[in-house]
Amino acid sequence: MSKPKVFVTRPDVPQAGIDLLKEKCDVEIYDQPMPIPRDALIKGVQGKDALYCLLTDKIDKDVMDAAGPQLKVIATMSVGFDHIDINECKARNIAVSNTPDVSTDSVAELTVTLLLVCGRRIMDSANAIKNGEWIYSWSPLWLCGRGLTNSTIGIVGMGRIGQAVMKRLLPFGVKKVLYYDLFHPIKPAEDMGAQYVEFEELLKESDFVVAMCNLSEQTKELFNAKAFSQMKPTAVFVNTSRGGVVQQDDLYEALKNGKIRAAGLDVMIPEPLPRDHKLTTLPNIVLLPHVGSAEEAARIEMATLAAKNILSVLDGKPLVTPVPM
Ligand code: DGY
Repeated sequence: MSKPKVFVTRPDVPQAGIDLLKEKCDVEIYDQPMPIPRDALIKGVQGKDALYCLLTDKIDKDVMDAAGPQLKVIATMSVGFDHIDINECKARNIAVSNTPDVSTDSVAELTVTLLLVCGRRIMDSANAIKNGEWIYSWSPLWLCGRGLTNSTIGIVGMGRIGQAVMKRLLPFGVKKVLYYDLFHPIKPAEDMGAQYVEFEELLKESDFVVAMCNLSEQTKELFNAKAFSQMKPTAVFVNTSRGGVVQQDDLYEALKNGKIRAAGLDVMIPEPLPRDHKLTTLPNIVLLPHVGSAEEAARIEMATLAAKNILSVLDGKPLVTPVPM
């Protein structure tokens, strides 16, 4: 009997995931370590039973048409699934999985790092010596920022990662954690002491505003000029979810005109952000190249979980970690 066919869109997926697939499937892998060009994706997916993809691959109707009616499962090696047309998958009865949980700690740690780095002006401080700006040995107000102790944190999107961020912030002695989420109340967060408030109130009250929400119709450009104008002028904004939840021109203006004090982004539009993009000219922003889950152990777990989802469906079993449809 012939083995089921799987197409993998990148060769630099951790080998453990590929090895798992190879035990039971015929695996075809795109050969360049870069986001797969559209024509190669359309060609590669043809006749496959399963598609193993990354967040850099747009999986829409045309890709599914190209694959053919035998396509049973799409597994993305990411938590986010906004690059997949879920309604189309639902209409075609194609199972879709993501990789939740296994990168939660990595992303939460990076989020807390950005809060501290931006709040305490760590990049400015580190650059000060290299730029020859350290003139006097110590100055009372030079490079002063704001730490987490006694601050109000506003978390927008209190899912697993939002909760993991909160858990890490509590030992810093934060004053309170406010949260806004389309689905509330969220009991585990409230059990830790988080208080649900409307979005506007969260913006007005918070010293640190953290975007932790999925990108969806409801959250697209949620952080726009209106939102930034409602934040404190001393507020720090951090986004480690998806670039699309922020109206970037509005963020640029808000940072340039002192509507908010600083921002830290691990996600942006486009990715990669061009080196000469206007955001890179601002002194009060820290930009990271989408490294939230960039720990080898996390990436290996993501790779194997995506493979397990495919194998499960091909074996006639349910997905291990289904995307909610
Ligand atoms: C995800 O898993 O969606 C992350 O953005 C990748 O680090």
